[in-house]
Amino acid sequence: MTLDISSVRRQFPVLRRSINGRPLVYLDSAATAQMPEAVCLAMARWNKEQKSNVHRGMHVLAEESTVAYEDARTAVQKFLNAAHPDEIIFTKGCTESINLVARSWGETHLQEGDAVVLSMLEHHSNVVPWLQLKDRKGSDVLWMDIDEDGMPKLDDLKKHLKTGRVKLVAITALSNVLGIAPDLKTIIAMAHDAGAWVLIDAAQAIAHMPIDVQDLDCDFLAFSGHKLYGPTGIGVLYGKRKLLEKMPPFLGGGMMIRSVTQEGFTPADLPGKFEAGTPPIAEAVGLAAAIEWMQQYSWEDIQAHEQELLRFAIDNLRLIPQLHVLGTDGKSQIINHKSPIVYGCLSFTLDSVHPHDLTEILGRQGIALRAGHHCCMPLHTKLGIPASTRLSVGIYNMKEEIDVCAQAIVDAQKKLHT
Ligand SMILES: Cc1ncc(COP(=O)(O)O)c(C=O)c1O
Repeated sequence: MTLDISSVRRQFPVLRRSINGRPLVYLDSAATAQMPEAVCLAMARWNKEQKSNVHRGMHVLAEESTVAYEDARTAVQKFLNAAHPDEIIFTKGCTESINLVARSWGETHLQEGDAVVLSMLEHHSNVVPWLQLKDRKGSDVLWMDIDEDGMPKLDDLKKHLKTGRVKLVAITALSNVLGIAPDLKTIIAMAHDAGAWVLIDAAQAIAHMPIDVQDLDCDFLAFSGHKLYGPTGIGVLYGKRKLLEKMPPFLGGGMMIRSVTQEGFTPADLPGKFEAGTPPIAEAVGLAAAIEWMQQYSWEDIQAHEQELLRFAIDNLRLIPQLHVLGTDGKSQIINHKSPIVYGCLSFTLDSVHPHDLTEILGRQGIALRAGHHCCMPLHTKLGIPASTRLSVGIYNMKEEIDVCAQAIVDAQKKLHT
């Protein structure tokens, strides 16, 4: 279907809201994307007509729910082009998916002195679990710095891999601050040549670029449903089957076992082994509906639209005096300003204006931006700033909204400086 933005917008009930008498301008999809009516309806239908637990009951509702839940797994498998549905584990979010790997794989595969490589772009969700593992196991965390384009330095990776200690490279597919997409294929090939596995944090990338896990050849990949126009409370861990099969369960409880005695238990097969307790069923139904909804549109059209928005944003924001789109040299140079190859978001600072003050003023006018370190403190420290303001786009945004936002920034700047 052609990407007609007016028709897309009509499908998002929240976009009809006004805040303090002004239309909502939602430029915070990197934090969470809004849900189209189709997703809300699919979840409401399950809740009203089919609500039941899965893989437990024999009655009709239980059977329908089980089919819906497993269909959702197949929808995710196809969306990622995974080889098998068993390679798709439902979690409560991207953060939990990464923690699952750090706990289950990390505990059993890392020894003291082994290392995990991260990039300076990483979100705390892909930093803290590895630091916790370091505290528990005595493993190391080694860092890839970023170059002047914001790309992780491959020379750093090469140097770390040469130590022979690296067991995992855990890297984002798309920075939630700079909008930079690292060269995953090269990084994965380098890691594999050195005998290391690769985990991809696709929290941001999942809504902005096609992902084919077999083509990438990544070993693990994590994302959350809520950034993909789906509900909160559900995430996905993709893992190669041969790896997942060797990993112990993460959480213990119902449904993750084959048998239990007073002395011990044997775990269930994949994927149940990693899905202890009642899973997020309505949320899985919602995620499948979100994938189906998104797939009406081509990636080509989605990317062309979002690129146009970001180019427009960069060009307009650059005209604002004392506004600096974040770069990598600590002096806030503009990244790729001639040919912006950023996806989903960009971040900026405004001289003598704290991001929280700016976003509060804009927020009262119905303009939703995000201020802070965006859960990327190491990156902000590297850039020499405590915080920044992020503008992020989704399929439903329009250039007019970026205009409104840019004008509001200019007005706020004047107000705060007088
Ligand atoms: C790059 C990145 N990784 C991980 C996460 C964590 O996602 P969640 O909070 O949905 O678990 C986020 C969320 O903003 C993110 O942007």
